[in-house]
Amino acid sequence: MLKIQHLLGLKGVCKEDIIKILDTADNYYEILNSENKITDSLKGKTVVNLFYENSTRTRISFELAQKRLSANPLNFSVSGSSVSKGETLKDTVQNIEAMNIDMIVVRHSASGVPEFLTKFSKATIINAGDGFNEHPTQALLDIMTIRQKLGRLEGVNVAIIGDILHSRVARSNVWGMKTLGMNVILCGPSTFLPQHPELLGVKTTTDVNEAIENADAVMLLRLQLERQDTGLFPSVREYRQLFGLDVEKMKKMKENAIIMHPGPINRSVEIASEVADCGRSVILDQVTCGVATRMAVLSLLGNKEGK
Ligand code: CP
Repeated sequence: MLKIQHLLGLKGVCKEDIIKILDTADNYYEILNSENKITDSLKGKTVVNLFYENSTRTRISFELAQKRLSANPLNFSVSGSSVSKGETLKDTVQNIEAMNIDMIVVRHSASGVPEFLTKFSKATIINAGDGFNEHPTQALLDIMTIRQKLGRLEGVNVAIIGDILHSRVARSNVWGMKTLGMNVILCGPSTFLPQHPELLGVKTTTDVNEAIENADAVMLLRLQLERQDTGLFPSVREYRQLFGLDVEKMKKMKENAIIMHPGPINRSVEIASEVADCGRSVILDQVTCGVATRMAVLSLLGNKEGK
């Protein structure tokens, strides 16, 4: 059993809970690689996937995880719903809950929505990404991938490169990795970096070579191209030259260091195609780990006997 009742973020989640989720995910990973991929861990439970923002990986892997656990998934998308008629988030959730559901997986553009839902909903809430705040299952699957590829977590050096300021993935990874004794360096244009990294227990740099030279794992973040006119970075071309991981920069990485990206990737912007598709890239392994991670989170939170 976990100490947490909901998964709202990794901030404040204890090491024991994170390790329990990772170990459970490893078990599910084995099951997913076996002939019979179905378990009955959540048989009879109904899970609503409430996505107010677009998603490919997170939504599909949550739904697949629910099906592998024998739960009943219900998918809600804003388009085609009564949100277009002005129905509020609270009314939407209360109406769905009146249909007797057990869990809600929620993605929303506003930070804090998952926590808000816990104030009036009896369902177990899982955050699938809220605004700039957190994306905890992404960080858990990232950490699972690192442990699987490198065989350890304590003392592992991770460089996260990109738009840290607006990245819920970076934020969840920092909380989770620091709890597990990993070392994190954040890199990007100064406008994308936190003002007080010491409060997070991380280092920062604007020099990509400094970030990658000691890293065991290098994680690129999607440059949010919608920010082009905000003045936060000079141009996509300059960003690519300074911060994009290409073959030349990759040669400066440690020999066994892995390359990660939560997706979706901007090829030829934050990562060159040759790098994204090379043998050191674990980007698709991350996606595979995502199903097992989400099975672990769903079963541990949705079922007191979660395995
Ligand atoms: N990594 C991630 O959250 O991808 P999606 O937006 O496609 O779910």
